[in-house]
Amino acid sequence: MRNYKNIFANFSLPTYSRLGPLFVKGRGSWLWDSQGRKYLDLFPGWGVSILGHSHPRIAKVLGEQARRLVHLPNNLFSAEQALLAREISKRSFPSKVFFGNSGAEAIEGAIKFSRLYGQNKRFEIITFKNSFHGRTFGALSATAQKKYKECFRPLLPGFREAEFNDFGSFKRTLSKKTVAVLLELIQGEGGVNVADKNYVRQLRKYCFNKNILFIVDEVQTGMGRTGKLFCYQNYGVVPDIMVLSKGLGAGVPISALVVRKKIASIIKPGMHASTFGGSPLVSRAALEVFKILEEEKILKNVAKLGKHMRDRAASLAKNTPVIKEIKGEGMMLGLELDIPSYPVFLKALGKGLIVNSTHDNILRVMPALNSTVKDIDKGFNILEDILSAF
Ligand SMILES: Cc1ncc(COP(=O)(O)O)c(C=O)c1O
Repeated sequence: MRNYKNIFANFSLPTYSRLGPLFVKGRGSWLWDSQGRKYLDLFPGWGVSILGHSHPRIAKVLGEQARRLVHLPNNLFSAEQALLAREISKRSFPSKVFFGNSGAEAIEGAIKFSRLYGQNKRFEIITFKNSFHGRTFGALSATAQKKYKECFRPLLPGFREAEFNDFGSFKRTLSKKTVAVLLELIQGEGGVNVADKNYVRQLRKYCFNKNILFIVDEVQTGMGRTGKLFCYQNYGVVPDIMVLSKGLGAGVPISALVVRKKIASIIKPGMHASTFGGSPLVSRAALEVFKILEEEKILKNVAKLGKHMRDRAASLAKNTPVIKEIKGEGMMLGLELDIPSYPVFLKALGKGLIVNSTHDNILRVMPALNSTVKDIDKGFNILEDILSAF
C-alpha cells in the first residue's frame, strides 16, 4: 500500500485528501482492502453506487455492451441512448434529454439552456445558501458556499443567492433579469437540508406565473434515493428542468439534462455538445439501472430501510446526546452533531465502516438502495459504539 501512496503523492494532482487502505474489490455494501479486510460501505461512491458495488447485472450488461459497441459520436444514432432518453422522459415528465458525463456538466447545460431561454435579456439564476452544484466554473458560480469559490474569482456573473426555505428571501433576490431558479430539494453536501413542501410549491407556482425556469438539481436525490424515483415527486410539483447524475449509471459516469418538452426546441443543433455524453456503454448501464430498480422493487426497500434508518437514528439520539438533529428523507440521512463530524468519520473508518462527514458537523449516511436491515444495523451498532464515547 505504501507504494501506491507514494505513487499518488508523486503523480496525482493533490486535489483530494485521500486516506485509508487500498481498496481492491467491492460487492454490494462491502469493500475489501488489499489485506483482505472487509469494510461496510454506507456511503458507496458518494451517492453514486445506488445498487451497491459491482452489481452482477450491471457487470453483465457492461461486458456485453463493451463487446458490441462502446462509443459512438453524437452525430450518429445509437439504440441505447434513444431508449434511455425515452425511459427518463416516461418516468419523469414530458421532456427531452441531453446526456453528459458528470453532475457539473449537466448543471452547465442547465445554465446554458437558461441563458438561451432568457434571450440575452434575462440571464440571472437564483441559487440557495449552502447549495452545491459542482466544481466547473458555471456550477461553481451557482454553488452558494464561499469556501469552494474564494480562490477562483472572478466567477461567472449572473448568480444571486437566496436563503434556503425562505420565500421572502427569494422574492427579495428576484430582479427583472431573473430567468431561472436552481434548487436542490434536499441539499446534500450543504448538510442534508430538506426543502419545505409549502415553500417548494409556492416557489414553483411563482416561477410558473412569472415565466421563470424552475430547475431541480437531482444529482444526489434522484434515482430513488428518497423513496420516489425523483425527489420532486414528493412535492406535487413538476420542474421545467431536472439534472440527474450519480445514481443514474450506478457507477458509470453519466449525467442527464432533462428539459420540459414544450420549451426544449429552443436549443438547436450546434449549440451544445459532449463528445462522450450518452455513449452506448453508459446508456446501456443506465437502462439496466431502471430495470433493476423496477424488478428488484428497490423503491419499496428504500421506504422500508429509510424508516428503519430513521428509527435507529432516533434511538441512537436518545442514548447519545452529541446528536442534535436527524435530517433527511428516505435513504439520505444526516445526523447533525454538536461536535465536528470528521473525527467520527475517521473513527468509523478505523472500525471498518464508511460514512461521510460534511458541512463541519453533519454525519451523512447514504447506503446503497438495495442494502439490507442487517447492513444498516451493523453500521448503526458501530456508530453507537463511537458516538456514545463522546
Ligand atoms: C447536488 C449536486 N449537484 C451537482 C454535483 C456535481 O456532480 P459532479 O461531481 O459529478 O460534477 C454534486 C456532487 O456531489 C451534487 O451533490
